[in-house]
Amino acid sequence: MSDSSILLISADDEVATNVTSALEKIEKARVSRESSSVSQLNGAAVAMAADHDVVIFATDPSNAADLTAIELLTDQRKPGTIYLALTDGDLPLSKARALSRAGVDDVLPYPLSNDELVMQVNEMLAKKRAEFTESFSGAGARNGHLFAVQQARGGVGATTIAVNLADQLLNRKGAFKKEAGNKVVIVDFDLQFGTVGDFLDVDQQEGLLQLASENFIPDAMWIEQSMTRLPSGLAVLAAPSSFVPLEAMQPAQIEGLIKTLKTMFDYVVVDLPRALVNWIEPVLAETDQLLIVTDMTVPAVRATRRLMEFVLADNAQLPIEVVINHEKKPMILREHHREAAKALDVTFHYWIAHDPKAAREAVDYGKPLSEVSARSDIAKGIALMAKSILTAFPKERAEVRV
Ligand SMILES: Nc1ncnc2c1ncn2[C@@H]1O[C@H](COP(=O)(O)OP(=O)(O)OP(=O)(O)O)[C@@H](O)[C@H]1O
Ligand SMILES: [Mg+2]
Repeated sequence: MSDSSILLISADDEVATNVTSALEKIEKARVSRESSSVSQLNGAAVAMAADHDVVIFATDPSNAADLTAIELLTDQRKPGTIYLALTDGDLPLSKARALSRAGVDDVLPYPLSNDELVMQVNEMLAKKRAEFTESFSGAGARNGHLFAVQQARGGVGATTIAVNLADQLLNRKGAFKKEAGNKVVIVDFDLQFGTVGDFLDVDQQEGLLQLASENFIPDAMWIEQSMTRLPSGLAVLAAPSSFVPLEAMQPAQIEGLIKTLKTMFDYVVVDLPRALVNWIEPVLAETDQLLIVTDMTVPAVRATRRLMEFVLADNAQLPIEVVINHEKKPMILREHHREAAKALDVTFHYWIAHDPKAAREAVDYGKPLSEVSARSDIAKGIALMAKSILTAFPKERAEVRV
């Protein structure tokens, strides 16, 4: 299903040639090599190692410098990354234990046959995958809430609101607001024109393209490997760089993706495409609240009305909030506000001020408003919205569900 990236760290060319040629037999594996010993790895290489699914390194566990280096390497561990040590044939148990304490998942005796190497790596990959998936089932499962953000017209500010809402749902705590209180992911389902990645300075990601072009149901490990995590803790599943035919995505894939995301995160925020794609249904079926972002212009209010009718036709019970962007909450509703509320049969709870400077700054820096202009009216408006959402939808664990 997903490709496995394997990094081999070895200063020895002969070892590297042998091991690489064996690893290339693993289906869908991309093998790269770092020509260095573990103890001489530079910081950049250490950080880069964690982007691989498997890291294999030659080591002599009698060497204290190696053990320290391995600890450093495995400290950067991402869930799912496998660390395998390649050591000389007969390893005493005490040495194997030292390696395991340093964070190594398994020890491979060198030399070993190609078949054995391939088998071991495949087994580890399958085991990790199963463990990881398992960790989000039963007691480990979250019961996340899903918020889908839709726009009444192009450019009205849906992505701005989705991204900053997700950021605020982190509910950061501590003196420097560094600790995320909640696990939150933002997913860019605007596959063709999505800008979530730009707003958060995250590279485009090919995960969703792969999902659309290969017909598989994503599991937790695939999701984990396809996402980026920001320093704030926010997880981002960005849109791909190349063109995705929207209809290639199968509703069952989106359903699987969303259901699994809900077991992994407390809050899932989805930026929807403007087009009403055939996989919108599974999104709506799992949505706790649909946020339609609009302004008070007549065409946008009419588009909101049409969207609501479309959505409610098949999901009569779906809670919808209409978010008014580019306008501060007025002290008293004006005539056109009242008319819009009546036409839509809603009460407007969320008003986000028009603040081009703050909006622009956030985009230019590729950061959420909270980090660039937290005191702006637009940031405050979104923070208030997040607060009321957190109150209305407190985070849940699957086990407390009745
Ligand atoms: N409240 C606001 N005040 C001022 N500018 C805003 C506000 N909200 C969004 N913007 C700006 O408007 C532009 C469009 O915003 P955004 O990309 O969020 O809209 P969108 O509805 O997602 O558009 P698209 O149709 O491209 O998906 C951006 O430059 C953004 O910074
Ligand atoms: Mg957008």
